[in-house]
Amino acid sequence: MKQTILDMNIDNKRVFVRVDFNVPMKDGVITDDTRIRGALETIQYLVDHNAKVILASHFGRPKGERKADMTLAPCAEHLSKLLNKPVAFVDDCIGDTVTAAVEKLQGGDILMLENLRYHNEETKNDPDFAKALASLAEVAINDAFGVSHRNAASVVGIADYIPMGAGFLLKKEIEALGAAVNHPKKPVAAIIGGAKVTDKISVISNLLPKVDVMIIGGGMANAFIKAQGCNIGSSLFEPGQEQIATDLVMEARVAGTRLLTPIDAVVADAFSNDANTKIVDVEHIEDGWMVLDIGPKTRELYIDALAKMKTIIWNGPMGVFEMDSFAAGTNAVAEAVANADAMTIVGGGDSVAAIEKSGLADKISHISTGGGASLEFLEGKILPGIAALTEA
Ligand code: 3PG
Repeated sequence: MKQTILDMNIDNKRVFVRVDFNVPMKDGVITDDTRIRGALETIQYLVDHNAKVILASHFGRPKGERKADMTLAPCAEHLSKLLNKPVAFVDDCIGDTVTAAVEKLQGGDILMLENLRYHNEETKNDPDFAKALASLAEVAINDAFGVSHRNAASVVGIADYIPMGAGFLLKKEIEALGAAVNHPKKPVAAIIGGAKVTDKISVISNLLPKVDVMIIGGGMANAFIKAQGCNIGSSLFEPGQEQIATDLVMEARVAGTRLLTPIDAVVADAFSNDANTKIVDVEHIEDGWMVLDIGPKTRELYIDALAKMKTIIWNGPMGVFEMDSFAAGTNAVAEAVANADAMTIVGGGDSVAAIEKSGLADKISHISTGGGASLEFLEGKILPGIAALTEA
């Protein structure tokens, strides 16, 4: 059993809290604060227990450089508004200024550190860097489920120096996703979408034996369409993907899993919302046209399959849903997942955004704050950030 925040003596202590505030942002404005709101329970609990709260996160992938558009300052400001309480901000995460800022903290105060990935040592899980982070606090909390699949200093290495327990958000994610992995109500469906089959090949492969139905959508479906011998025109496709798709079809057969791929598609003559479009069966995609969404017959096929499921896992859109002309497939799946009489889990920025946009979020059993992390968890992998938590 791993420690959680409830097992730890945090009263009046300096507590290092790893959060995942890697939120979508446009021109310094946060466009979706789900991850920040997700950490509020832990932060409020620590404040109520008079802890000195030191928040640390990564933002983007600055690769060791200080990049002005990747500062966490807007997140600190936003958090302060949500809590209706000052959140101090320091422009680094280790070093003298940080130590001085920490020393100033009184019980119940909150300090947010600057982007951990301004130091390359974070992603390398460098022991000296982990030790420097640990020296700021007496105990650590991991409430950053979204980055718990990364072997990073603030997620893993720090636990070599100070005890680290799970925060409320991490605990909730482990319980909800754990139930889907360990005691799924059958039949189980996984819907995997998104652009690249190469990115998600191991996920699909590992999930195939665990699910009854595997539904494929998004750009990666093109590889499956091509593998059936169909023309895919100018659709998104990388050489080599056809073989991956062929192998996955075989794996599905061996596993006895029903693998559903598009039977028709919305095709366009350009990658634009205003392009000319038509609906064609996958056998009739012509040169000069590209697949940008699943078609109506495929929608029906997927909706029908999902209606019979008792557990549904969804990650990745069915088409280019940011453009209204190609959003119907993703919206139909969002509705089908929300309306299913099943335990439903949605993860990954795009699928979560689609669910939020449809206004159906409250009908989903669990919306995960993790994209890659939730998929790796559902594959049955042990996430390094969870493995590193101190034993109770
Ligand atoms: C995410 O957005 O999935 C997490 O914050 C992890 O980010 P990373 O993929 O850059 O490690």
